[in-house]
Amino acid sequence: MTPNIKPLVAGNWKMNGLRSSLDELNSICAGYNGELDGLIDLLICPPSTLLQESASLASKHNVMIGAQDCHAQSSGAHTGDISAEMIADSGAKAVIVGHSERRSDCGETNEIVLAKAQAGLRNGLMTIVCIGEKEEERKSGSTLKVLEDQLKGSLPDIIDADLFVVAYEPVWAIGTGLVPSAQDVEEAHTFIREQLVARYGEQGSLVRILYGGSVKPTNAQELMAIANVDGALVGGASLKAEDFLGICSAYTKIG
Ligand code: PGA
Repeated sequence: MTPNIKPLVAGNWKMNGLRSSLDELNSICAGYNGELDGLIDLLICPPSTLLQESASLASKHNVMIGAQDCHAQSSGAHTGDISAEMIADSGAKAVIVGHSERRSDCGETNEIVLAKAQAGLRNGLMTIVCIGEKEEERKSGSTLKVLEDQLKGSLPDIIDADLFVVAYEPVWAIGTGLVPSAQDVEEAHTFIREQLVARYGEQGSLVRILYGGSVKPTNAQELMAIANVDGALVGGASLKAEDFLGICSAYTKIG
């Protein structure tokens, strides 16, 4: 955690979720409106087919809805893509860009991620830029260099700390049940904070830095207590309200 920063817990449903999954979203919202509301900000990123309905449901509960990707341009001949403008128009408030699955599945470079991040911010969306090293990069000791390059290449020059979020997600920890040691998470997050402050000054000290990769109710408390870990980006465990709320409730236990 970072003093003076309200944590954000974000769920990334990836390519999961039908209209029947809105029951799960309802349960998440109901669980949030209690001891968690006020303590943390909550965001769910369902597939784009559910954006509008989710946004109208969640807005009654102060829970944000976001998309998992956006195109860099506002409109045009880009079959299958959706723009940040369309996401905002659906009632959603946020977008994830540069997730490692998009970097690998769709060949997204830092340059593409940067353009998408700029589009998100231009449209007033909370914009989460994901970075993280691959297993071989961790093993070869180049983690911090990889993070530095991704930060330099995919972060916009102008940010607003209220809207801009960085998610550190070691690629080898995503969906594998593997989690870096607390020491390694702290090293990465402290490095990211230093880079943000060096580039953005005061604003950089206020940007939320999320940890993502196999966050579960059983490890959330330990992870969320680490310096400069200002929340979580949760994949698999965000699909079940009980698990997701179990992660969120880590914040009721940290001083
Ligand atoms: P996971 O996914 O929690 O299932 O590891 C995290 C992510 O990809 O954001």
